[in-house]
Amino acid sequence: MKVRCPVCKNNNMISDEEVSGFLFSLHCEKCEQLLSVKITVQALSVVKTASARNVDTDDKNRVSTWIKENMDKLDLPVLPVLATRIQEARKDPNCSLDDVVALVQTDQIIASRILALANSAMYGGLVEITDMKRAINRLGLNVTETLVHALENRRIYSSENKQVKQILEDLWMHALGTALTSQIIAQELKMENVPEIFTAGLLHDFGYVLFVQALIQAKTFKVDLGSMNVEEFMEVAFEDHAKLGAHYLREKGLPKSLITIIACHEEIPEEEASNNSLHVVALANQLCKKVGLGPVHDADIRLELTESAQILGFNELKLADLEVKCEDMVQKVAACLE
Ligand SMILES: [Fe+2]
Ligand SMILES: [Fe+2]
Repeated sequence: MKVRCPVCKNNNMISDEEVSGFLFSLHCEKCEQLLSVKITVQALSVVKTASARNVDTDDKNRVSTWIKENMDKLDLPVLPVLATRIQEARKDPNCSLDDVVALVQTDQIIASRILALANSAMYGGLVEITDMKRAINRLGLNVTETLVHALENRRIYSSENKQVKQILEDLWMHALGTALTSQIIAQELKMENVPEIFTAGLLHDFGYVLFVQALIQAKTFKVDLGSMNVEEFMEVAFEDHAKLGAHYLREKGLPKSLITIIACHEEIPEEEASNNSLHVVALANQLCKKVGLGPVHDADIRLELTESAQILGFNELKLADLEVKCEDMVQKVAACLE
């Protein structure tokens, strides 16, 4: 059996005889991190009866396969379009501030929030602004674009369904945290595609949102979400969330560079080892798990040992600084977006 260390990415090989039960622990041979390994099963029906011991690897029973096959029947979240339009418009060298203003004003709710943000303690100046052109001028085009993205994404994470309200809230904080942390890292590294990296951070765990929506709507599973706690849900969804999110967003026409980041953010394949945008989001994702932004909290993650931190040149000191910046930014921005 191969146990891949989530911290240093080392593959630890252990023989089946050494495996005792469905839950065991071992020290990673490379970084010595204590890893607790749970052998998970793929069929949702088994999650409902935790004592079951039959491992069903039949693809047909996988939730993600079912979602892929039934995508047209499910009422899945509408993807943000305004931010994408702004992003496209800005690629045109003739794009002016007026063009961006006109685009923002096509969505009155977003427009009013942008105006409020330009006057907020986070971005505000001394003089109150009441017109959109001056508001966008104060924020700057990059910040405006990322805020439109964040505002549009926020809508995806709200639901009237009480059973999923909390998990969606947690997933939203994680998405926002990963996006903002990715942005800080990309800015520090003076990377050129900062808005794109921010978007990738926002969308990296989109697969979980699909799982939530599908589980609410899919009577086939007969799953009572009320009896499934957040940990159980994350366990069911973890294995496939990255691939599922990438599949859905590819169908929606998102660019390949974004899809690669979404598909590979939990485990970077060798052929993407020099993809720095991917490393930025992967590191931000781990950092948010470490500080507890989102449904998963793992304070033991040693970020400095991760492949991404090493490739991007983030040592312990820089990472500690990044943690503080991330927590500070997320609280402030989240409050502004409510
Ligand atoms: Fe993820
Ligand atoms: Fe994540």
